[in-house]
Amino acid sequence: MKEILVVGGAGYIGSFVVRALLDAGYKITVLDNLSSGHKEAIPSKVTLIEADLADEKVVRDVAKGKDAAMLFSGLINVGESVKEPWRYWKENVVKMILFLEVASEIKNIIFSSSAATYGVPQGELFETHELKPVNPYGETKLAIEKYLEHLTIAKSINAVALRYFNAAGGRADLGEDHKPETHLIPNVIKAGLEGRPVTIFGSDYETKDGTCVRDYIHVEDLADAHLRALTACLSAKIGFRPYNVGTGKGVSNLEVLKATEDVLNRKIECIMGERRAGDPPVLVANPNLIKKELSWEPKFTNIKDIISSAALWHKNHPNGYLA
Ligand code: UFG
Repeated sequence: MKEILVVGGAGYIGSFVVRALLDAGYKITVLDNLSSGHKEAIPSKVTLIEADLADEKVVRDVAKGKDAAMLFSGLINVGESVKEPWRYWKENVVKMILFLEVASEIKNIIFSSSAATYGVPQGELFETHELKPVNPYGETKLAIEKYLEHLTIAKSINAVALRYFNAAGGRADLGEDHKPETHLIPNVIKAGLEGRPVTIFGSDYETKDGTCVRDYIHVEDLADAHLRALTACLSAKIGFRPYNVGTGKGVSNLEVLKATEDVLNRKIECIMGERRAGDPPVLVANPNLIKKELSWEPKFTNIKDIISSAALWHKNHPNGYLA
């Protein structure tokens, strides 16, 4: 049985991938410092090691005998990264490089990268598009992509960088629980459920309705992309491969609001706020490469289905995992 180390497996995306790995018959160890992850999100069959990825002693030990590592840990908020870049460079780059050095016996790496590596894209977003991040968060993801690419050449290992577009959605027992929550879909759903207004950051972008446009990808589809990337790594020498993981459909912030009103069947008051620093106006994937090379296909392509699966989680868990 192949053994996988999942770093940050108690977080939102990690916890969905852990379920998918279990269902596929892998043996899993989760390494998570629980700074933003939740113990409750880890199934009892999975070994949870509560430690930081920069804890050399622990990492040396848990890396032994692992066939692959999936790297979900790190800070994820674009706006926060502009205000506190030092935290992003330390957590996402310094600690990750230390981890990769100590865990160097693991020869297959699946890294959670981001569409934020592209910056403000010009034209179609293929993986070969220029990488010019416009916020520290995207810079830190790009730094690790580059480092992994160098490692694959120098050490002959495999590394897949999955460039996530906007992860969203949930299921009755698993979902998004960030404190504080900064992402659009959970913020709009919670505003709707709690009967309070939501702020949309910026309405003067050059987009279809003046608000930012994103490509929302369901966490179950993201999980499936991880499994396929893992299979590819375990079956051949592939070196470094970056893949966009998105649906290819752009949805504006106002369209998210409207779709959530339809899903919840109620009006949600919206305050038009200032632009948020570091936000690219439009981020929409061209996902053809992952479809072609890993035979991946998203199951959730309708924004209302994605929001409705997230709403199920928020209705059942008004206080997140504490409920
Ligand atoms: N937004 C609002 N109001 C809110 C929250 C967000 O208007 O309360 C807006 C943002 O300004 C942006 C859009 O909604 O225009 C999406 O913002 P999110 O914070 O939900 O997501 P981001 O696009 O900033 O970033 C997310 C993840 C990153 C990932 C990126 C990839 O947080 O980790 O998607 O596109 F890299």
